[in-house]
Amino acid sequence: MKKFYLTTAIDYANGSPHLGHAYEKILADVIARTQRLLGRETKFVTGLDEHGQKVQQGAEAEGIEPQLRCDRIAEEFKDVLGKLEISHDDYIRTTEQRHKEVVGELLQNLFDAGDIYQDEYEGFYSTRAEQFLQEKDKVNGEWPEIFGEVTRITEKNYFFKLSNYQDWLIEYIQNEEGFILPEYRKSQVLEFLKDPLNDLCISRPIERLSWGIPLPFDPDYVTYVWFDALVNYVTAAGYGTEEFNQYWPADVHVIGKDILAPPHAVYWPIMLKASNLPLPRQILAHGWWTTSGAKMSKSTGETVSPLALADQYGADAFRFFVMREMTVGQDAEFSLERFSSRYKGELGNDLGNLVSRLLHMCHQYFGGTAPDQELNEEVEQNLQARWKETAAKTLEFYETYHFHQALEETIGFVRAINKYADERAPWKLAKSDDPNDGKALATSLATMLEGLRLANELLAPVMPGTHAKICQCLSQEPVKVWSDRLEWSNRLAKVELGQKIILFPRD
Ligand code: ME8
Ligand code: MG
Repeated sequence: MKKFYLTTAIDYANGSPHLGHAYEKILADVIARTQRLLGRETKFVTGLDEHGQKVQQGAEAEGIEPQLRCDRIAEEFKDVLGKLEISHDDYIRTTEQRHKEVVGELLQNLFDAGDIYQDEYEGFYSTRAEQFLQEKDKVNGEWPEIFGEVTRITEKNYFFKLSNYQDWLIEYIQNEEGFILPEYRKSQVLEFLKDPLNDLCISRPIERLSWGIPLPFDPDYVTYVWFDALVNYVTAAGYGTEEFNQYWPADVHVIGKDILAPPHAVYWPIMLKASNLPLPRQILAHGWWTTSGAKMSKSTGETVSPLALADQYGADAFRFFVMREMTVGQDAEFSLERFSSRYKGELGNDLGNLVSRLLHMCHQYFGGTAPDQELNEEVEQNLQARWKETAAKTLEFYETYHFHQALEETIGFVRAINKYADERAPWKLAKSDDPNDGKALATSLATMLEGLRLANELLAPVMPGTHAKICQCLSQEPVKVWSDRLEWSNRLAKVELGQKIILFPRD
């Protein structure tokens, strides 16, 4: 059976990981965990993009071999993945032998099929962007800053016949609902495809760039870094092996909006089509994290260290924040004030306090054994009805990548538990000798426990560590597959509860 296969962009090995990289990996991780919780077998791949001019130049500046530099940067990126609890199944590096072989094979096939040809090319070249430019790339008659130094060069190179596939691609994108997500990005891609496509220069002469994968049909050239990098998605799926069909086509490529058109929405579909491979089911383009309105990036130096925040507040609080704050596809402004307000409010006050005061009362009134839901009156029924609604909506939000709404809904349910507590007021019931109040006391705590158990199931994709801690307090195994664990039940009755814990301490 086809398994759920998802990927992220592979990060450039030319700088340190920042919030933008961390966010994308968390976003993909939440999708992967959701799929597993829904009971689907899932393969989640991320990795590092190691070839190209910038990597070569970075290594030269340091006076070391590019591979050595990549190895070091790979450790840095992998360290972040570990600290952020990213559950990837594979980490692909484009300098690996398995990848070089697949790139070579695809290139040779396209060359044999006549989709790659040699030509003389004269034009403007940007070293910083590693691409040839055209007059239309100028702004007010000048090359924009992002291209760095631009020079005129003449070169023999190899070209990939993008133009042959333009009409096919336009039609495909127009007809394929949900191929490009969010839907509004589709029009940007179609806009890009309005102008005639130039064939893509997929080679670099080795005297200018040696740090790349050699062309199998001409040893004087290496492969253009984008052509190399995109292929990682089929390499990691096991191209050329028996397992490939279990994974390919990818269910979703998670990327940032800056690399949608042309690389992922134009080059990649055409590379696949020309190679007779099926296209990915979805391309999900997320927005940018900005500080004071500017994109956070290595070149501007305006970055937030994801590790510093994760170290200080824990990976889960960081994961929660980025998923809660950003509407997938749109930009979001990062600020410590926003972070702190979510942390103190939704995590500390709403969720954290519920856990600590509930466990405290269970120990105080019932010696730490969970009571039974003895009554089922209107207040309980209201909360149960609210749960049904929350579960249905949240699952829908998770499936459609509306994570900020999934979390809003789930935290809303946590608030509903707190409101229920205020209505039943167990602390008052505990003072009464009336046996009916005794039943109401047991019921109120049992209902809150069950509500907490359920809310916690829905938090599992975003806050796996917190999920496990709460499970431990409730004597439950962390959830592997949701199925019947999302149904209101009495499964906590009589279990021994853990001691009160502070999940989100104030600093
Ligand atoms: O583009 N906010 O690598 P990269 C959100 N190697 N996302 C951001 C971001 C920000 N401020 N800055 C970067 C590359 N990203 C290529 C990809 S894929 C075959 C090759 C995202 O290190 C960016 O959009 O520049 C991209 O998806 C990812 O981080 C890696 O960016
Ligand atoms: Mg970038």
